[in-house]
Amino acid sequence: MRQTEPDVYRPDPAIAASSHVPDADSLREQALADPVGFWADRAEELEWFQKWDTVLDDSEAPFYKWFTGGRTNIVHNCIDRHLTGPNKNKLAFIWMGENGRDHLTFSYFSLNRQVNMMANIIKSMGVVKGDRVTIYLPRIPEVLFAMLACAKIGAVHSVIFAGFSADALASRIDDSESKLVITADGSWVNGKVFPLKDIVDQAVRFSPTVENVIVVRRTHNEVEMDALRDHWYDDLKALPIAKGKCPTEPMDAEDPLFILYTSGSTGKPKAILHTHGGYMVGTYSTLKYTFDIRPEDRWWCTADPGWITGHSYLVYGPTLNGATSFMFEGGPTYPYPNRWWQLIEHYGITSFYTAPTAIRSLMRFGDAWPNRHDLSSLRLLGSVGEPINPEAWQWFHRVVGKGQCPIMDTWWQTETGMFQITQVPGEVQKPGSAGKPFFGQDVEILNEEGEPVSDGDEGFLVLKNPAPAMLRTLYKDDQRYIDTYWSKYPGKYLTGDSARSDSDGYIWIIGRTDDVIKVSGHRLGTAEVESALVSHPAVSEAAAIGLPHEVKGNAIHAYVVLRVGYEPGQELGESLRQHVSQHLSPIAKPDDVQFVDKLPKTRSGKIMRRVLKARAQGLDEGDLSTLDD
Ligand code: PRX
Repeated sequence: MRQTEPDVYRPDPAIAASSHVPDADSLREQALADPVGFWADRAEELEWFQKWDTVLDDSEAPFYKWFTGGRTNIVHNCIDRHLTGPNKNKLAFIWMGENGRDHLTFSYFSLNRQVNMMANIIKSMGVVKGDRVTIYLPRIPEVLFAMLACAKIGAVHSVIFAGFSADALASRIDDSESKLVITADGSWVNGKVFPLKDIVDQAVRFSPTVENVIVVRRTHNEVEMDALRDHWYDDLKALPIAKGKCPTEPMDAEDPLFILYTSGSTGKPKAILHTHGGYMVGTYSTLKYTFDIRPEDRWWCTADPGWITGHSYLVYGPTLNGATSFMFEGGPTYPYPNRWWQLIEHYGITSFYTAPTAIRSLMRFGDAWPNRHDLSSLRLLGSVGEPINPEAWQWFHRVVGKGQCPIMDTWWQTETGMFQITQVPGEVQKPGSAGKPFFGQDVEILNEEGEPVSDGDEGFLVLKNPAPAMLRTLYKDDQRYIDTYWSKYPGKYLTGDSARSDSDGYIWIIGRTDDVIKVSGHRLGTAEVESALVSHPAVSEAAAIGLPHEVKGNAIHAYVVLRVGYEPGQELGESLRQHVSQHLSPIAKPDDVQFVDKLPKTRSGKIMRRVLKARAQGLDEGDLSTLDD
């Protein structure tokens, strides 16, 4: 369906003139003509122990390699290189605790000390280059130190969002075969303690690989400590082994940096693998150009380091750019809905990057909350995670940005590691469109047969050429990597999203085409929710679908078939919702559980979620010829 074009926003020409990219169109044209040259120039801006031989090696496509022969370490560029220049005493991170009292700052110099200390400790636990370390921490400074420390010594971090259940944590620890887990006694969630260490205890009880657990003290709740396995971070810091410099390990550009689990269309989460060289060049340049990073900026990315946005644009991208980042332990509305606005005012935040779901939820509290604060330090706003609806865009622009701040809508994925479709600050913005492909990126929107669709028509969004920060593979599962991303249209990367483009080349993302549901910007697989449901003794079969939700974007609705002997009822429905929350994550808790006698299935036994979805929305159920009954 074609849609009429909504309002466009034309930024003040002075914004482009003073930015890193004064003429986006010509840079886009130039970079597209020679993407490899564009990326080689960007890589030259960073430091390498040894320069690369080949920028892009596509001899084993789709296992693309970037900057082969090059040697570096992302931490050398995030920290070490700043220590000999003007950034040495600049603030790298400012941190505020949820209680509004705990406050810490780290210059690049002191960040280096903290990372050295953590790296020495991790090393002392027998972790060597290539070993995996699971990090399960709240938004406290140690999560930054832990990630950077792993990277510094060449260990591969696997950060698990500290809201995942023991089951989810255990399966990710086992899959990555982590030797070490770094966690905290608890985390603060709206003034209450969430017992992280207890969850780790449950998760590692039967783990065949975990030898040590480091516990950061945050909430001072009672925890059990296994005398051989568990260690308080405070105690370790006092040991002689923690002191002194820890050398930054020289890494091949293609050596693994981290794995990050994300949802796919089967029950088993996908372990996305990123590497030192390409990811470093990609996150550095996308942040620099899209958010026009300047020395005087105070950057705030509200994402948790447990997600890719936190990895790329809270931890790595800002430090690669020598920027000052703010990290807040709490959420936007505790204790009052002005919390974020108050922090922007207090810290003089210049660039604020968040998610549409947060904007929509804050918008509901009205204009008075942001209007109580002086938000004039802001110069740029950003959005990520799901399409931003034009109403939320307008509110963000008018009330938060006072009509002065361009909004950078950034489309990308855990897999791409960096912005893939976006704009730069001086460009025309169309509320609701993610913008245009990033420099050097070619995209296409295809029909089922692989032909490009006409402007305005919906189709499958694909990336036509590889980019340096893109995943290298799925950890331990090369075949699934090929099957998931490269098999539908050979030679093209399937994003899993549907989109349309307009006559100006702006891309409008519609949503996922696979069994992934975006709930409050978080990515969940229907299969994960369904397997959590069927692990309940009352459930024989389950289907989960996403239905539109005003604040969350999508909400999960579950359909369950009960085992013989169980009766449907409100109480059972509630206990199933709780069960998903406990066995997967509170984010995955269904909004609604419906009891049914049967699920619509194809003759080969596949659940037809599209039929459930259409029925729930009162829409046409489409072709039912494959339905078994
Ligand atoms: O559907 C797209 C949506 O989020 C998916 C990727 O999710 P995840 O790997 O969790 O990464 C989220 C943060 C990068 C995409 O396939 N998505 C992400 N950003 C946008 C978006 N949809 C529309 N507009 C965006 N700006």
